[in-house]
Amino acid sequence: MHVSSAILALFGLLSGLATASPMDVNHGLTSRATTFDNPVFWEDYPDLDVFRVGDVFYYSSSTFAFSPGAPVLKSYDLVHWTPVSHSVPTLNFSNRYNLESATSRAYVKGIWASTLRYRKSTDTFIWMGCVQDTGATYIWTSPGTNAAANNGEVSSWNWTAKGSIPKCYYDVGLLIDDDDTMYVAYGNTKIMVSQLNKDGTGEVKSQQVYASPDGTTIEGSRMYKKDGFYYIFVTKPANAEWVLKSKSPWGPYDRKVLVDSISGPLSSAGFSHQGGVVDTKDGKWYYVAFMDSYPGGRIPVVAPLTWTSDGWPEVVKVNNAWGQTYPVPVTTSKTVPPPTGISTFVKLGPEWEWNHNPDNSKWKLVGGQGGLTLGTATVTNDLFSARNTLTQRILGPKSSGTFHLDISKMASGDRAGAVLFRDVAAYIGIHKEGTTTSLVMVNNLNLKSDWTTGSTGSVAATATAIAATTTDLWLQIRADITPAFGTNTARQATFWYSTDGKTYQQLGPSFGLSNTWQFFTGYRFGVFNFATKALGGQVLVKDFELKAL
Ligand SMILES: *[C@@H]1O[C@H](CO)[C@@H](O)[C@H](O)[C@H]1NC(C)=O
Ligand SMILES: *[C@@H]1O[C@H](CO)[C@@H](O)[C@H](O)[C@H]1NC(C)=O
Repeated sequence: MHVSSAILALFGLLSGLATASPMDVNHGLTSRATTFDNPVFWEDYPDLDVFRVGDVFYYSSSTFAFSPGAPVLKSYDLVHWTPVSHSVPTLNFSNRYNLESATSRAYVKGIWASTLRYRKSTDTFIWMGCVQDTGATYIWTSPGTNAAANNGEVSSWNWTAKGSIPKCYYDVGLLIDDDDTMYVAYGNTKIMVSQLNKDGTGEVKSQQVYASPDGTTIEGSRMYKKDGFYYIFVTKPANAEWVLKSKSPWGPYDRKVLVDSISGPLSSAGFSHQGGVVDTKDGKWYYVAFMDSYPGGRIPVVAPLTWTSDGWPEVVKVNNAWGQTYPVPVTTSKTVPPPTGISTFVKLGPEWEWNHNPDNSKWKLVGGQGGLTLGTATVTNDLFSARNTLTQRILGPKSSGTFHLDISKMASGDRAGAVLFRDVAAYIGIHKEGTTTSLVMVNNLNLKSDWTTGSTGSVAATATAIAATTTDLWLQIRADITPAFGTNTARQATFWYSTDGKTYQQLGPSFGLSNTWQFFTGYRFGVFNFATKALGGQVLVKDFELKAL
């Protein structure tokens, strides 16, 4: 979870590695490629857990204070992924997740490394995660709709809170043993194993099973059983992955290093680490890890895994590095939709997450392809304290996000627009004052290191083109999230607008993205609407287009 600051010192060693390649050209509906490129999915889906049911690979990820939390992604080949649901529909751990005031916010808190598994005996998907500010571990489950019998397919998700355990299972990994007993591995530096009760809502036994030498930080546990051995994979952040192996879930565990400071597959990114392992239907194994790739967050990479005769896993390397290309894990005609395209908000798909829990009384789907209304939900001068900013991950290495808005129902004092959202942020949007409608580019919004607001931003440019009668406005952000982690290079984003959806004008200077890791989440595209005077105004978000550049 934490990226050790020592890692920054290691970046000197990273120079001269393979250069970034263009996005996998084989992504798409007609893919029958024989190889794939890393990263497999250039979006910020960190702290992953991965497993398979039938033909379907599932992937769970951390989301901090974004809501809904803990997205579930699916794939048929480990390469093409699409989000399908969220395990935690609302972050109701405490009021601070509602962004109710500037002094009650949950930035960087909430959903950290957590776990997702399918339990065949009860046909249930089980998500568990510790929320550190309450010190408890929460369990949410969804019926599997006969997933095992249907080759892994789930016809509909219905996540409900199953309970909580009054103990923090830090960076928890769930194992459902062959006899259906459930164990969790968790902890930081000292790795613990707990056995859960029959329905997984309480603990029956707990024991420390491993302590790292010299108190080295290890975390991100994932627990597996294979050929009679128990394994706990742990990360030594942010550069190594260790494997612990034992005949018993309770140890003693032997240790081997799976990867340590492995270079590639992208330059100016961190080492591939953490994540989990999964097998294919025909018995091949893969390690799905992630790389610190700020400003874009942490993105997944896949490599084949082989096993020694005495049961230790080994990553298949290319030129002693994590391969940029490997043979495809699964050849299949089953596909998932690409991340790019236009959404008209027929539904609010699982690619969308709000900044903190939304005020659900202030937004709604119009219906059909009518878009989404976003009423102001907070009176504030501070975007970081405004509820109902709706975000989507940026597709790397470069993409644009275009929000088509109807701004005719904005009220005096309202601020609405398209934001490049992170702890150091910028936006293009409308500042409405009386009957004056100003189209502005605002930069220099930031949070301080204690996550209080450092700056609410300054207007860097104002366009004169917008008339009081303008209703339709397209606001576009073009962002480059090519990794620049540990470098002094600031990747750039630019802000654009159009009044016809065809011709775009740039507004304001380009904006340098922050490469730091401390906010955990990478940059996102977002749409916001907040009031500085009084609630009542609204914008209509007619559609959104994510386009690879
Ligand atoms: C969160 O909401 C669910 C219902 O959606 C409820 O069962 C659960 O107890 C709530 N948790 C907390 C901590 O309030
Ligand atoms: C979802 O699950 C809850 C609790 O089990 C149940 O009350 C509700 O009817 C379910 N909803 C749907 C749409 O199946």
